[in-house]
Amino acid sequence: MPTPSEPWRPRPAVEADIDAIRRLEWACFHATISSLSYRTELADPRHAILVLEDAEGLVGFATANVVLDEGHITNIAVDARCRQRGAGRALLTALVERLKQLGATAAYLEVRTKNEPAQHLYASFGFYVLGKRRAYYWDPPDDAIVMRLDWAAPDEPA
Ligand SMILES: CC(C)(COP(=O)(O)OP(=O)(O)OC[C@H]1O[C@@H](n2cnc3c(N)ncnc32)[C@H](O)[C@@H]1OP(=O)(O)O)[C@@H](O)C(=O)NCCC(=O)NCCS
Repeated sequence: MPTPSEPWRPRPAVEADIDAIRRLEWACFHATISSLSYRTELADPRHAILVLEDAEGLVGFATANVVLDEGHITNIAVDARCRQRGAGRALLTALVERLKQLGATAAYLEVRTKNEPAQHLYASFGFYVLGKRRAYYWDPPDDAIVMRLDWAAPDEPA
């Protein structure tokens, strides 16, 4: 676990992280995409996968992709033993920086209506609610809240 003087430092994922990412994804969501899908995303420059580690191993990951100038945050998760210590915010901050480098000027995401911790994280980061997608999730069924964050392009005034 990092200390205040030694903050969380997300880094880009590599192929050797895939099994640990999938274990954490399963622990958080009882579902995971395949190893092949992760390998495909790692090889695609329009995708970003970041991970966070502590002394015991991988404790968080975040994924996104860019289409034209829009980023789509597809997942973010922190090991239950490390939550509410700034890891989620550190991952989201680094992921948005990566989306900027990839040419995005905005990011959107979907979040379960019942997932209050994640909604708090996104709202406190500046994401605003765009609307709802009905019956977006299953197992258990839930609607999705769609949220968006805009930032200025590098050549635009802030
Ligand atoms: C959502 C998640 C990634 C947040 O990670 P985290 O490391 O706990 O988040 P942080 O400690 O960086 O907290 C950042 C902000 O999130 C909010 N937050 C985090 N946990 C919260 C909780 N249990 N209740 C309310 N707000 C919470 C707070 O606004 C916090 O801001 P603050 O530090 O100013 O109070 C984590 O709860 C998680 O992995 N959940 C399971 C997977 C998941 O649901 N992912 C989201 C999919 S859309």
